[in-house]
Amino acid sequence: VTEPDLKGRHVVVSAGGTSEPLDPVRFLGNRSSGKQGYALARTAAARGARVTLIAANSTLPDPAGVDVVPVGTAVQLREAVLKATAEADAVVMAAAVADFRPAAYATGKIKKKDDQEPEPITLVRNPDILAEISAGRSRPGQVIVGFAAETDDVLANGRAKLKRKGCDLLVVNEVGERKTFGSEENEAVVLGADGSETAVPYGPKEALAETVWDLVAERLS
Ligand code: C5P
Repeated sequence: VTEPDLKGRHVVVSAGGTSEPLDPVRFLGNRSSGKQGYALARTAAARGARVTLIAANSTLPDPAGVDVVPVGTAVQLREAVLKATAEADAVVMAAAVADFRPAAYATGKIKKKDDQEPEPITLVRNPDILAEISAGRSRPGQVIVGFAAETDDVLANGRAKLKRKGCDLLVVNEVGERKTFGSEENEAVVLGADGSETAVPYGPKEALAETVWDLVAERLS
C-alpha cells in the first residue's frame, strides 16, 4: 500500500481472548493468540490511522505507534470498546469474547473436599459487544466489522451471523488444523451487509488484515 488511505481516521481493534475468572487461580479461556488483531492494528497504523488496540490477555509486544488498552474479561473488554468507539470511524472486533462467564467468583481458591463430588459451575451470558455497538452506532457512517470462526456450513452460518449482529462486514474463517488459532496464517471470506463476498486465500494474517482495511476504507469514503 502506498497511499495512507486511513490517514485522519481513528480505528479501534479488539484482539486476543477474554479470560473469565472462577477464583484467584482459575479461569475459563480460549485459544485466541491475538495475532490477527495485532496484524490489523499494525497494518492500520501503517496506512495512517490512529489506532486503539484493546488487547485481551495477549502476550504479544505492543505494536509501535498504537495505543494499547489491556483488558481481561468480556465485561472489561466491553467497557474499553464502548469508550474508544465513541469517537471511532471504524471498529474491528477480532477478539474472541467468551459467550459465558462463571455466575460467581470465589474470592478464595476453590478446594476439593474428600468424598464429595465437585460443585457444578453455573454460567451466565456475557454481553454481545459486537451486536451492541452495531445497534447503536455512535457516529454516522461508522464501519463495524466482526469475526466469526465456524467449523461447518461456514458461509450460511456467516450470512446468518452477519444479519444477527448487524455489523457491516463479517470475516468468516473455518477453524482447522493449520489455520486461525495461534497460527501465522489464515484463510477467510469477508461478507458484506451489502451482499458482497470477498475471498482471501490461505496466507499471512497481514494479507487478510490489508483486505479488511481495503473494504473498510471503501465504505468510509
Ligand atoms: O457469536 P460469535 O461469538 O460467533 O461472534 C463472533 C464475533 O462477535 C466476534 O467479532 C467477536 O469479537 C464478537 N463478540 C462480541 N461479544 C460477545 C461474543 C462475540 O462482541 N459476547
